[in-house]
Amino acid sequence: MLAGIVATMIFLAVKYRRQRYPRATATRHYSIPLEAVWTIIPSAIVLLMFYYGWASYLSLRNVPENAMEVKVSARQWSWNFEYENGRTSDKLYVPVGKPVKARITSMDVIHSFYIPAFRVKKDAVPGMETELWFSAPKTGSYHIFCAEYCGVGHSAMITSVEVMPEKEFQEWLKKEEEPEEKEAVALLQKYGCLACHSLDGTRKVGPTFKDLFGRSVTVVTEGRKRTIKVDEEYLKRSILDPGSDIVEGFPPVMPSFKARIPEEDLEEILEFLSGGEE
Ligand code: CUA
Repeated sequence: MLAGIVATMIFLAVKYRRQRYPRATATRHYSIPLEAVWTIIPSAIVLLMFYYGWASYLSLRNVPENAMEVKVSARQWSWNFEYENGRTSDKLYVPVGKPVKARITSMDVIHSFYIPAFRVKKDAVPGMETELWFSAPKTGSYHIFCAEYCGVGHSAMITSVEVMPEKEFQEWLKKEEEPEEKEAVALLQKYGCLACHSLDGTRKVGPTFKDLFGRSVTVVTEGRKRTIKVDEEYLKRSILDPGSDIVEGFPPVMPSFKARIPEEDLEEILEFLSGGEE
């Protein structure tokens, strides 16, 4: 359309240039055939475009009946996936060629669940459930991004879709979750702690968990610097009321986990962090 319009415009501008026609005159007042042509043709084109747009919109919106459901929850700054049998993971595992319906929500602020490879994106909104579906045509690993700026760890809110053959997926789904001794790490994963705190000493948004217990740290408490030794009480306070002591050099961005972690999980995490090693 652009080429047609521009070509016609240039042709007419040259043909009816001022040199040849110094004075403008109306050649004809009204032409019904012409009016009809330039009304009907563009209308048909626009309706056709609407039809294709609407059809593909509907296929995005209407989730196939046999879709497998996965609950997706977003939080600052990680993703968690829960499957129909209660299994959870921090990567999204799906069988190849099968429709997957994601039921999306957020624990804190607005995030956006985005899988570029499958051309799907949907906001994750606190207090509300949104959904999308996709079907992965090939096995492999594909990025999942957060596509809504959600704070300092936004760019690190990345995980992946792992597309596996149906049989492998079913085996994975049935597998016992983490073995006993790794449970604490699984909890740290589940509550999103590891998005900002590393286990191996790497500096992320927050301080690392490596060799944390017993370490002396400089914290800022109500605007004043002080040095404290990391003990269980400090760890607990940092989880439930993270704003009270901010470790020097780190942004005060951690959300409170008060009423978000069941007591027994909190105990488990504290025990792990106090133990110092895995
Ligand atoms: Cu979550 Cu950006």
